[in-house]
Amino acid sequence: MKMLMFFAALCGVAVAVPFDSAAYMGESAPMGLVDELTTLGFTKLVELIEIAGLKETLNNGGPFTIFAPSNEAIAMLGPVNLKNMTVLVNLLKAHVIEGKVMSTMIKDNLVAPTLVKGVPMRINVVTWWQATTIGANGAEITLFDKMAKNGVIHGIEKVIYPIPYGNMIEAMEMIPGLSFTLELIKMAGLESTLAGEGPFTIFAPDNTAWLKVPEKNITALKANKTLLAEILTYHVAPGAFYSTVIRPGTLITTVQGQKVLFNPKMCKKEGILYLFMNEAEVTLADQSVTNGVIWVMDDVFAKPTVF
Ligand SMILES: *[C@@H]1O[C@H](CO)[C@@H](O)[C@H](O)[C@H]1NC(C)=O
Ligand SMILES: *[C@@H]1O[C@H](CO)[C@@H](O)[C@H](O)[C@H]1NC(C)=O
Ligand SMILES: *[C@@H]1O[C@H](CO)[C@@H](O)[C@H](O)[C@H]1NC(C)=O
Repeated sequence: MKMLMFFAALCGVAVAVPFDSAAYMGESAPMGLVDELTTLGFTKLVELIEIAGLKETLNNGGPFTIFAPSNEAIAMLGPVNLKNMTVLVNLLKAHVIEGKVMSTMIKDNLVAPTLVKGVPMRINVVTWWQATTIGANGAEITLFDKMAKNGVIHGIEKVIYPIPYGNMIEAMEMIPGLSFTLELIKMAGLESTLAGEGPFTIFAPDNTAWLKVPEKNITALKANKTLLAEILTYHVAPGAFYSTVIRPGTLITTVQGQKVLFNPKMCKKEGILYLFMNEAEVTLADQSVTNGVIWVMDDVFAKPTVF
């Protein structure tokens, strides 16, 4: 039922409702958000909320919308030092926005501030063939609109980590191996655009990727700003794309105009899914930034017609 209502809303009916409106007319549930989380089985999240000392706020303050990672999602979280209270509190607060955002209010690229200063929550609605997927900073939402007295809970299948700090340029400066791509971006005069409103997704070749390109081609690239911009914008797409939200086989139109293919490959022997964009292997995916998403690849997209 909820899903049906939700998909109806995607067709544009409820989109005009302001996302931070507390005017949702649904019946109020008696429990606070944290108690409701417990009832719904988000026990690991509730444990962390209690350790962080956020139970009182989240149960009685608000209204809030919580994007709640499942127990499995929390178990899959990589090496994050949750014993550090600053890290834990920020991680949890980055899953909470002010106000009640019901699924009927969700639309693509809806952005709302989280409880961490400067850290936004970006919702993405991706439709490919018949399937629609909704992501919250790259975490797929699989459970919608669980009401509590002081807000609403949506269930997600991944912990939102790392937390998006800084714009695309600032974040790229912090990621090792992207110095040459950054140098080319500055040379092409694309820096302010990529630090701007966006959203953009960059498929950034790392330094080893550029080393595979013959020296004379690099020289030609540096000598011709038009060509340089053309190559760089072939690696940037308008919109925020996460490997966890888009489906295999999705074609993404770049700023340059040509499409790139999301092309993950399952290695049967190891049982590991390797991510590729076209034929370039993705070495880092889904790095949320305030104005988009960063992916890192070990190859430059080949484009023989201009390169
Ligand atoms: C906890 O994490 C913060 C933020 O990453 C860091 O600045 C601080 O030094 C850490 N504290 C301890 C005790 O490790
Ligand atoms: C380098 O440029 C030459 C033409 O000048 C082209 O034939 C070749 O495919 C390019 N190599 C790469 C890796 O793009
Ligand atoms: C620079 O690159 C553009 C785009 O590929 C091309 O049309 C133009 O002829 C090049 N200019 C020179 C001087 O080579």
